[in-house]
Amino acid sequence: MTQFSSQHPEPFKIKMVEPITLVNRTEREKALENAGLNVFNLLAEKVFIDLLTDSGTGAMSEAQWAGLLSGDESYAGSPSFLHLRDTVTEVTGFPFVLPTHQGRAAENVLHSAMIKEGNVIPGNSHFDTTKAHIEFRKARAIDCTIDECFDPTIDHPFKGNVDLEKLENAVNKHGVENIPFVLITVTNNSGGGQPVSLENIRSVAEFCKERKLKLFFDAARFSENAWFISTREPGQIGRPIPEIVHEIFSYGQGMTMSAKKDAIVNIGGFIATNDEEIFEVCKQYNILFEGFITYGGLAGRDMEALAIGLKEGMDHAYLTSRIEQVKRFGDSLHEAGIPTLRPPGGHAIYIDAKRFLPHIDQEQFPAQALVCELYLESGVRAVEIGTVLADRDPDTGKNRPPELELMRLAIPRRVYTDNHLAYVKDALVRLYERREKIRGLKFTHEPKLLRHFSARFEWV
Ligand SMILES: Cc1ncc(COP(=O)(O)O)c(C=O)c1O
Repeated sequence: MTQFSSQHPEPFKIKMVEPITLVNRTEREKALENAGLNVFNLLAEKVFIDLLTDSGTGAMSEAQWAGLLSGDESYAGSPSFLHLRDTVTEVTGFPFVLPTHQGRAAENVLHSAMIKEGNVIPGNSHFDTTKAHIEFRKARAIDCTIDECFDPTIDHPFKGNVDLEKLENAVNKHGVENIPFVLITVTNNSGGGQPVSLENIRSVAEFCKERKLKLFFDAARFSENAWFISTREPGQIGRPIPEIVHEIFSYGQGMTMSAKKDAIVNIGGFIATNDEEIFEVCKQYNILFEGFITYGGLAGRDMEALAIGLKEGMDHAYLTSRIEQVKRFGDSLHEAGIPTLRPPGGHAIYIDAKRFLPHIDQEQFPAQALVCELYLESGVRAVEIGTVLADRDPDTGKNRPPELELMRLAIPRRVYTDNHLAYVKDALVRLYERREKIRGLKFTHEPKLLRHFSARFEWV
């Protein structure tokens, strides 16, 4: 039966298009082999639908493109910086703002200022670059996410929540003096793009206040998190997104931001804080690593587009059309019997590789194998969020297979139509039908740091 009915239509129309081409199976096989079975090494022209990441891959609006032309390129004191700073302060309430070229650069600066060897940083699931920056400083990230997060079949509205008991245990074990800050990531990307409730943020903030601990946010998808709060949380239904965002940040001392997500820019990030002492130290590291404090690794035009995108990303109609599209895609896979992480996340659908490929041991990277097979089947690029990404334990040197072994299909903002996603679904259905024939992988090259970006593999 043909289905053609409207659901949460996009509040924009398309003014410019970019051609994409599906290369044939033989070319895909050659391309993947040359890439060492790692889709990060694929040339983009060999990819048909690119769901590798939602980071920096969104379509900017006409207002943002206009901002690129009006951006001011002064080294110091650019009006584009002031526009960015004032917008960040208006949106988040944080008065001190440092631009950086992307999220991990903000982490590098903040962590240089705050983290010492032997420290621990508890929070919900840390993103890989965050964890890597923590471990690079010989500190440790402690995942205190609620247990429900680690069961892909449980339908919980706020699977990104911090478990207060786990947090308390971590603090008691390691001592307040060894914890430079507690970190909440919104939404919880590594845990399935799942939101954190406002009530949970309040409770963590209260706990931190009692212990005199600082609370920071990894805020890449704060608008999507606020949308979930406004549609799922009792007492918050229908509340304006900007109000929720303001309240979230009012509970913390600062944030790092990868603006390539919810601010819908191709490059950019920032640190924002209300702690002047931390800001002063961060300023020095920003100059060292990123550039002067009024541009921090960005061109004036980038800051202009970022300031505009930050507000566009909070528009309720836009957020509804985006997150509902992700949900429609996820529900269609679920209904087709494909094991996905439930409920659908805000920016991505995660396929549960443990249930898709139960015959492949985690040490043979089932999610990575699935990513390769999906590319071969359809030219669609996804990404592994599993054992490869989890890296080795820095203390034991052993692989640390995570509880969730996932293939992530990240949906770029304002880029693909439902028809594109239906193509991806059909490819996954075909793969699922022949899943028993899929084999695992082993390393032929394993880098020491952030190995998933550049590792190479062969089929077992
Ligand atoms: C939650 C989270 N934090 C931090 C980052 C790092 O940001 P960037 O890629 O801009 O360096 C990402 C990016 O993927 C992310 O998803």
